[in-house]
Amino acid sequence: MAKAIPEVTLNDGTTLPVTGLGTYGLWGNAGANAVSSGINAGYRLIDTAYNYENEGAVGEGIRRSGIPRDELWVTSKLPGRYHPYDKALVAIQESLYRAQLDYFDLYLIHWPLPNQDTYVEAWQALIDAQKWGLVRSIGVSNFLPEHLERIIKETGVTPSVNQVELHPFFNQAHQRKVHTDLHIQTQSWSPIARAKDILTNDTIRQIAEAHHKTIAQVVLRWQYQIGSVSIPRSTSPERQRENLAIFDFELSDSEMTAISELSRPDGRLFDMDPATHEEF
Ligand SMILES: NC(=O)c1ccc[n+]([C@@H]2O[C@H](COP(=O)([O-])OP(=O)(O)OC[C@H]3O[C@@H](n4cnc5c(N)ncnc54)[C@H](OP(=O)(O)O)[C@@H]3O)[C@@H](O)[C@H]2O)c1
Repeated sequence: MAKAIPEVTLNDGTTLPVTGLGTYGLWGNAGANAVSSGINAGYRLIDTAYNYENEGAVGEGIRRSGIPRDELWVTSKLPGRYHPYDKALVAIQESLYRAQLDYFDLYLIHWPLPNQDTYVEAWQALIDAQKWGLVRSIGVSNFLPEHLERIIKETGVTPSVNQVELHPFFNQAHQRKVHTDLHIQTQSWSPIARAKDILTNDTIRQIAEAHHKTIAQVVLRWQYQIGSVSIPRSTSPERQRENLAIFDFELSDSEMTAISELSRPDGRLFDMDPATHEEF
């Protein structure tokens, strides 16, 4: 049995487990089973999004797991086409209906789409959704420092979380420093870099061998030790358990540095720069 998952406290006083289950591409019956097996493996934080078209499978997986709703944290995200204030509030309600949940623990603006210039009103909608009890905590995803500064300046409300692409090949050192200064919790998407090139990386393999751990476990432990909340996705009950078994060892300072030094300025997996990437 994996050790209990530690929690972090967010700037609004709510908490979040330090690792959760990603669900991109998990849908239908198989998706619901993957979510249920993840919860039974020990996950308590589940990450979905309106645009993953699987909030229904996530809700079904939660019910199949038999774990009480109030022991779980469920995150969803607002798509770009629903940034306008009135649409955003309806979309959040629709998200809840799809998942058959009464509230989300965390709701994020999925992408800023700065060229549309609608993310401030989307943020205002999330602020109001939180006041009305639809969501417990509100945050953003893929926001660059200038987007964070603008929503804070224009609304006075700081997001609790910014979920960004973050893995050893793109370690987001500057963005994380901005988050620390603003008291925003960093969350890592694609935390094991989609388990491609990283699984043959010599530096991480040597560290993994020294600790009798897998490469994925070392990368997820690195995520934990840099202070980011990771949300690895796996459909396999075995790999879900593997990805949770990261609390019984510790990486040294030199191991942490060696992994962090794998980062490259062009290390994004899909070249999705939030300054220009548009996803509706
Ligand atoms: N906010 C955003 O814009 C954004 C963007 C992308 C993703 N996300 C979120 O972040 C989550 C995670 O990111 P991701 O799904 O892109 O990538 P990821 O979690 O880095 O990698 C997932 C891949 O790794 C494999 N895998 C998982 N554990 C493994 C292990 N221990 N050993 C070997 N392979 C393993 C999985 O295959 P198996 O299923 O076969 O194990 C899957 O193909 C998503 O699911 C989604 O919830 C958010």
